[in-house]
Amino acid sequence: MAHPVNERPVIVAANRGPVTFERDERGELVARRGAGGLVTALLGALQEAGGLWVAAAMSEGDREMSTASDRGRIDMTPFGASYGVRYLDIEPDVYDAYYNHISNRILWFMHHYLWDTVRSPAFAEPAREAWSHYVDVNRRFAHVLAEEGERATGSPAYLIQDYHLALVPRFLRELRPEALIAHFSHTSIAGPMYFRMLPDGIHEELLDGMLGADVLGFHSPAWAENFLLSARWHRGIRVDLGRSRIQTTGRDVAIRVHPISVDGDAMRTAAATPEVRAARRELAAWKGDARLILRVDRLELSKNIVRGFRAYEMLLRRDPELHGRVRFLAMLSPSRTDVPQYVQYAEECVAEADRINDELGDDAWTPIELRLREDYPGALAAYALYDVLMVNPVIDGMNLVAMEGPLINRRHGVLVLSRNAGAFGRLGRYAVPVNPFDVVEMADALRTALQMPFDERSRRARGLSRLVLSNPPARWVNGQLADLDRARDRRRSA
Ligand code: G6P
Repeated sequence: MAHPVNERPVIVAANRGPVTFERDERGELVARRGAGGLVTALLGALQEAGGLWVAAAMSEGDREMSTASDRGRIDMTPFGASYGVRYLDIEPDVYDAYYNHISNRILWFMHHYLWDTVRSPAFAEPAREAWSHYVDVNRRFAHVLAEEGERATGSPAYLIQDYHLALVPRFLRELRPEALIAHFSHTSIAGPMYFRMLPDGIHEELLDGMLGADVLGFHSPAWAENFLLSARWHRGIRVDLGRSRIQTTGRDVAIRVHPISVDGDAMRTAAATPEVRAARRELAAWKGDARLILRVDRLELSKNIVRGFRAYEMLLRRDPELHGRVRFLAMLSPSRTDVPQYVQYAEECVAEADRINDELGDDAWTPIELRLREDYPGALAAYALYDVLMVNPVIDGMNLVAMEGPLINRRHGVLVLSRNAGAFGRLGRYAVPVNPFDVVEMADALRTALQMPFDERSRRARGLSRLVLSNPPARWVNGQLADLDRARDRRRSA
């Protein structure tokens, strides 16, 4: 079945697959589905189209499944729908260079302004060597995509995801000049000064790689604008800021904004399972009568966890009345633990919470409860119970926690939201906004949120869930497919 919007097969490429294969207690390989809006949105399109998802193998199970399957393609048939998954098996040292070194230590840091520029970055030989592996992995993805495109019935729509695969559009274009290619960035995007901190060659190759696409998608107008401004430094292209277009060697690249959202029905179903209900009862008992401030994040530098704790500390120091009457639950899932900066930041988060607990807590009350594990059912349980949800990233491409929380919450909880999160564009008017660098403003925001009268909280909470529900994930995919249809029409009429 072809996709209703553009009547063509869909091929997705992303570093992470939609499922990971692991052995269960009986030793059988079972697929564990990734959580989150991206997988939901893309699987929706793939299942309708019977399409294919190409990803890097991330577990032994993924590798075993792909060796055992026909030409590496694993057929998935959940609930009667069907789509394929194909994993690329990449040697560990090459994968380490592509994923940990270039994608997560360089590109992620750049797009989220995470460098401490007095000391880092300092690009030397290892970065250049790692870059050659990044190029190699991107080339391998492009080859598989081209091969799968040959095999597909009809010319496919390629949906390439994120900074890991920034060069794929160019390499794929070289192999299939007529291909319809969209690339979507789920991150924020660095402005031109920061972008140009990359060594010249890498900076050029990166822009050139992305510009192989017909359409480049972003979650927020600010990221699209940063891309256009950064691209202006690139040689041999014309950037039309007004029309959000870039002209490059006889081709036109459209720069488009499509904010992703979460799937309300799927989330509410997930929040109603016996496992989540049991977790909610346990949490409610633990919380008692206290007000609950919640944060749910990957243990990630850009999430601004330490400054969030300091803001809470300031709130407690200013208002001793709150001692014993409020609890801060930080649910943090370990992330990218092969990157030293992440390990160090995790230690800082724990040390800061311990210090605050030592200085302000007592036998009967621990101000901050840290839960450091991957626990999606636990997060769904906690979403129902918060009075304040703190989402204060330094900078963030979108942030789905800011959407998931209000959908599930039952207490008319207040969202404290960083102005630098992509989600702020749509949700900001119902949130208490914060500058993530200003600890005083964040402490004030927590107080405002805790003291907000019921009617006001309820008005905002309703506004938030209405906004989230009004933008189902299918719209995000369909917008991109419609962009590709327009690109094809433009090409035909050129
Ligand atoms: C961000 C990126 C995604 C990535 C996710 C988790 O949301 O935009 O591409 O998958 O973080 O990071 P990880 O490195 O664990 O895949």
